[in-house]
Amino acid sequence: MFPGQEHNTFVGCVGHPGSGIRAPGRPAAGAGTLKAMIPTLEWTPEGVRFLDQTRLPLEETYVLATTYQQVAEVITTMVVRGAPAIGVSAAMGLAMGVKSSQAATVPSLAAEFETMCRTLAATRPTAVNLFWAIERMKQLFSTVISVPGTTVETVRKALTEEALRMYDEDIAACRQMGAHGAPLLPVSGGVLTHCNAGALATCGYGTALGVIRAAVEQGHEIHVYADETRPFLQGARLTAWELMHDGIPTTVLCDNMAASLMRQGKIRAVIVGADRIAANGDVANKIGTYGVAVLAKEHGIPFFVAAPWSTVDLRTATGDAIPIEQRPEIEVTHHAGRQLTPHGVGIENPAFDVTPARYVTAIITERGVLRPPYSESLQELAGAASAS
Ligand code: MRU
Repeated sequence: MFPGQEHNTFVGCVGHPGSGIRAPGRPAAGAGTLKAMIPTLEWTPEGVRFLDQTRLPLEETYVLATTYQQVAEVITTMVVRGAPAIGVSAAMGLAMGVKSSQAATVPSLAAEFETMCRTLAATRPTAVNLFWAIERMKQLFSTVISVPGTTVETVRKALTEEALRMYDEDIAACRQMGAHGAPLLPVSGGVLTHCNAGALATCGYGTALGVIRAAVEQGHEIHVYADETRPFLQGARLTAWELMHDGIPTTVLCDNMAASLMRQGKIRAVIVGADRIAANGDVANKIGTYGVAVLAKEHGIPFFVAAPWSTVDLRTATGDAIPIEQRPEIEVTHHAGRQLTPHGVGIENPAFDVTPARYVTAIITERGVLRPPYSESLQELAGAASAS
């Protein structure tokens, strides 16, 4: 698909033939505490290097995107996915676009930059981290070019540094979420998760899986139950792969088995990520999350959401206003190239659903743990952060 695609057959879940590629002078974030950094995405001098998540868990394949259009394609086709990872990928795409632009003057670079932002913003509509990241890069661009005498080279440097900063901040936020959220998880027993909100959905460590990792690091004896997550199978393919990589006991279940396991008492808590959290605490996340939340409430099981503050969208009043991405029908009609459904049958494929705030026991962010009523606690935390 991409000129820089390399292929590496992956057998089992035992380590990565590490890329070793990292921006000069930057340490491997989390080194020494993680078993091995899962290289979800990396800035390299040649381009942005992505672990191809469409091929996991059987093949470890990397894609090198050398243009911003290729970064956009990588996001649309879900080579990289997960709200925080999408945001940082877009930022790196913009930095890459500006770096490789032929523009000789700042005004012509500014015109090109607008097109780059529009292209990346058109990739996936639900994860607000995408728009947050583009907005942050846009603001920096405006600030830098407002300084008299700014050159194209100055803009390039500033945007690259900002994208790398966002990468590091994302990992730090995940670790903070882990520290805040770990005490909420049971000391032992089953914890259910849906989709993949792990290292693969972030720049490293993960949100929901980061909280699980932190709890395990603190000695909790957790057994993860991973919903397979039809139709893209993020749970079966990705969550299972990365938890096995870290040696965390994991069982995959089909999405329709969660109710029965809860009834048997096997699930002590549920923890998921989020693509967008509205001002009233409604949470958009992978399709199927809403059903899990309703089941958790029925069985008296706490339902936690872990997400960085960049997933909070205070400009969207409620979940009803969150745009829900519709994915191609082929993701439902086919599996591994084989057709499953009769020709011509109607197909639904919304990628996300909205869980009303009343089902959410707590929202774990890097800024702290929020409790209901979220319309108040979200505003309070937003105010506290802007005051500090
Ligand atoms: O369609 P995807 O795989 O991008 O959806 C991902 C999810 O729904 C995740 O739960 C969410 O982005 C949080 S990732 C930390």
